Amino acid sequence: MESANDIKDKIRQRFVKVATDPTAPQRHPSGPASAKKLGYDPAEIDALPAVVTESFAGVGNPLGLHEVRLGDTVVDIGCGAGVDSILAARKVGPSGRVVGVDMTAEMVKKAAANAVAAGATNAEFHQGEADRLPVGDGAADVVLSNGVFNLCLDKPKVLAEVFRVLRPGGRVQMADVLLGEAVTDEQVEKKGAWSD
Ligand SMILES: C[S@@+](CC[C@H](N)C(=O)[O-])C[C@H]1O[C@@H](n2cnc3c(N)ncnc32)[C@H](O)[C@@H]1O
Repeated sequence: MESANDIKDKIRQRFVKVATDPTAPQRHPSGPASAKKLGYDPAEIDALPAVVTESFAGVGNPLGLHEVRLGDTVVDIGCGAGVDSILAARKVGPSGRVVGVDMTAEMVKKAAANAVAAGATNAEFHQGEADRLPVGDGAADVVLSNGVFNLCLDKPKVLAEVFRVLRPGGRVQMADVLLGEAVTDEQVEKKGAWSD
């Protein structure tokens, strides 16, 4: 059986590729066309520099679930190359703040460079894991999560961490993939394990 570290290494390797070689074939849809298909405003996506959207690997549009307000503090877990963080940074404005966290160093580096390219001075990015966020208790108005929860090994621990950083009345805006009960073990096997 694979160890937790082996699984995490495989996940990292997969997202290093998405960060550094975004035009290489991926097992899942990615890039600006995928974002538009998932319900992002095409004009908003087209207004971002191409380098920002090329490594988008989300599975939905968590920002579309509820308005993020001026002045909000937003935490984006598994932020990848930073598309949601940067869009959120524009919505919260200079009095707000966005903290993006991702365990893949190449994604964090790209998200930080992307924020500069997009002029988002109120977004910061940290390398770290979803179950240990570099944010104080109750500091966040909104936690965003786009495609990371299914990759987390200890989901209850991540949820507990999300609720630690959220202020009372704060919100989780999450997009993710679910394994339906009708899907057989053989079908899962065919689709591949955690991160191939
Ligand atoms: C499917 S991608 C989505 C990236 C980004 N949210 C987007 O919409 O483009 C998942 C991201 O989560 C990161 N990740 C996976 N497991 C993680 C964990 N346990 N803690 C933090 N980040 C993680 C990966 O490095 C990857 O960048």
